[in-house]
Amino acid sequence: MVTLSASVSSLAQPALLPDFDRPSGLPVFQSVKEAIATYEGETAIHVLYPRTIARAAATFLDGFPGKVLYAVKANPHPAILRVLASSGIRDFDIASIREIDLVRSTVPGAVLYLMHPVKSRRTVRYAYAAGVRHMAFDCLDELSKIFEETDGAGDLTLHLRLAVPNGHAAMPLAGKFGATFEDAVTCLQKARPACARLGVSFHVGSQCMDVADYRQTLAYVRKLIDQAGVAIDSIDCGGGFPVTYPGMTPPPLTTYFSTIKAALRSYGFEKLEILGEPGRALCAEGGSTLTRVELRKGQDLYLNDGGYGSLYDAARFEWNFPAHRVGDPAGTANNSAEFRLFGPTCDASDVIAKPFRLPADIQEGDWIEIGHLGAYGQALSTNFNGFQSDTTVAVMA
Ligand SMILES: Cc1ncc(COP(=O)(O)O)c(C=O)c1O
Repeated sequence: MVTLSASVSSLAQPALLPDFDRPSGLPVFQSVKEAIATYEGETAIHVLYPRTIARAAATFLDGFPGKVLYAVKANPHPAILRVLASSGIRDFDIASIREIDLVRSTVPGAVLYLMHPVKSRRTVRYAYAAGVRHMAFDCLDELSKIFEETDGAGDLTLHLRLAVPNGHAAMPLAGKFGATFEDAVTCLQKARPACARLGVSFHVGSQCMDVADYRQTLAYVRKLIDQAGVAIDSIDCGGGFPVTYPGMTPPPLTTYFSTIKAALRSYGFEKLEILGEPGRALCAEGGSTLTRVELRKGQDLYLNDGGYGSLYDAARFEWNFPAHRVGDPAGTANNSAEFRLFGPTCDASDVIAKPFRLPADIQEGDWIEIGHLGAYGQALSTNFNGFQSDTTVAVMA
């Protein structure tokens, strides 16, 4: 049995020890209760469920009609990268020099796609020298930058990021990146003669609740390609694939895959290389946070994790996540009450104002597991006030 301390996640060569999960390299427990029983730290605990992540990878690899890239931003923990790699994912969407180094050192042989539409010159040079041959752009100035920093982009696959509506995304991403229709025509015409391969990419927004958005975007791509009069080699359908949260039940992923497949056929794209860049849907359900109640004041709970930790989306966007008190037998949620949650920092805005339902008798010292935080939970945690957790465990449920 491993005794958890705050530094346990940095132990060397963990895969060789019997108490560590081999693919993830994390200390392994059979339940979150077991992990808490051995924990000596003060901060929250991040939990990864390697089997759930492996299942999500298999769902995409079996069903998505193209190559599956993991969007590293969703959760860059090396354990996630290892589990995804051991499940068959070899392609990674990265945005920064640190993400390049992270994936290179964690998944030897991985193929990297620098899909951030706006990069520093140094990032372009660094990526090129590190063997990255896929880059995104969304305007002529960024295209020139790539030409200048890569000796003309002659051996690159360039992906033109399009501005598309994010109408049914619970977390819209529109308005920052993407070429308009007219600019996209010009960009495609300028890029085509210079690069080895040319594609378009789009993002319908994260947690896209309506499959029709992908179909409509592919219809738009058809119009754009016809207008530009240039051949393209690939279409990157981006991320946006949803998971279930309280109050948000999307159609099954298989419906997204079959809709995209049918649209690719009906718009004449079957011969192109198709890519997808899921982040959330690969790791959200495979991660949770264990947070302890430090104080109860009426219906307010003061926790050791909050809006500057893995509950950023709960604090900022009032998202709800599945939550239960650790140790409660399944199906005992009847006697529950609504609680406002406060994070551990001194900032008064560190509050999750939209209530969570928890047992009415919850008290100091109880642990709460907040689920579906494997994406954009751990990744968005900060060390504000010294409360960042550096403890991550694997639970083999
Ligand atoms: C370029 C790009 N690809 C993929 C993703 C992942 O999106 P999601 O987590 O919604 O699947 C994002 C999210 O911001 C992104 O910006």
